[in-house]
Amino acid sequence: LSNGLAQTPQMGWNSWNFFACNINETLIKETADALISTGLADLGYNNVNIDDCWEAVTRDIQGHLVPHSNTFPSGIKALADYVHDKGLKLGIYSSAGVFTCQVRPGSLFHESDDAGTWASWEVDYLKYDNCFNLGIKPIDRYPPMRDALNSTGRKIFYSLCEWGEDDPALWAGNVGNSWRTTDDINDTWASMTSIADLNDKWAAYAGPGGWNDPDMLEVGNGGMTYLEYRSHFSIWALVKAPLLIGCDVRNMTAETFEILSNKEVIAVNQDPLGIQGRKVKVTGKDGCLQVWAGPLSGNRFAVVLWNRCSEGGTIKASWDSLGLESNISVSVRDLWEHEDVVADAVGSFGVPVAAHSCEMFVLTPKLSHFRV
Ligand code: DGJ
Repeated sequence: LSNGLAQTPQMGWNSWNFFACNINETLIKETADALISTGLADLGYNNVNIDDCWEAVTRDIQGHLVPHSNTFPSGIKALADYVHDKGLKLGIYSSAGVFTCQVRPGSLFHESDDAGTWASWEVDYLKYDNCFNLGIKPIDRYPPMRDALNSTGRKIFYSLCEWGEDDPALWAGNVGNSWRTTDDINDTWASMTSIADLNDKWAAYAGPGGWNDPDMLEVGNGGMTYLEYRSHFSIWALVKAPLLIGCDVRNMTAETFEILSNKEVIAVNQDPLGIQGRKVKVTGKDGCLQVWAGPLSGNRFAVVLWNRCSEGGTIKASWDSLGLESNISVSVRDLWEHEDVVADAVGSFGVPVAAHSCEMFVLTPKLSHFRV
């Protein structure tokens, strides 16, 4: 969507994956505080997004949305002020249906009223869900909210959460700043890997202004191992997915923080070229040894060697699978070890990769290959 936003995939935090309906204004404030104190905000995680359950169960007497008086007694405007004072942005949630998924009032047929309410609260971001949609197609339900947000005059990031219904990559490019390509993620290896595959199909449709969204991060929520979470984060970064943290950032382990704060992996996600990396080659049993890769600015390539097998194996990226001439010499930097590992690889590069782990690299062709 050309509203000037989403030139790179959105980064931040969202309440749903860890807290579900157990949210309140103290949690949101403490999360904003933690994003600052941990340094995650400085790394780009600047959206603090409230998901479902912030609303009172009915609209007010004038028909406006109101926050739940027990959990958000100070109101959303006060929260926006708090978050803005820290240099962060506040996100809100509703559904393109008559109710949200947790049966709070939805915004279908209330688009301009609700967009006006959020703008008056100085909200910066809307996640717009798909529950209780009366069987109306997404392509008919999502554009009215785009227009309503646009009419407020406030720049509001528009995140479509239509769960991949009706192949949004094909129509949402001028509707939203991101669109979900799949059903909800859960905190398991099986869910994460299958979502990565489903999302891959739509790579060609992502770019600055509008991104494929394979759903929010589960890193730190306990259902996967350290190496599995490292794979999850590396692939989400490579495929230009939104990097929305879904754990309790007030209580992260050192391992969780190490993954989420990897600057070099984040830089791949936020690369200005904005091309979604893809699964480019598979070998091994059932194709479980995988090369995922994509171009970066400056003639570079990002490569993830991803071992989805149940045992260790060597994975090799060959230049032809990346679209590079085979005689080109590249330097190879390891983004998890934070070191340059090879100065002049030619034709291919491979390493052993542990089961369910990945290794991630940036390949930089020698300058002499290009006219300067
Ligand atoms: C479904 C969405 O896909 C989730 O991300 C979350 O927003 C829930 N609804 C909230 O009810």
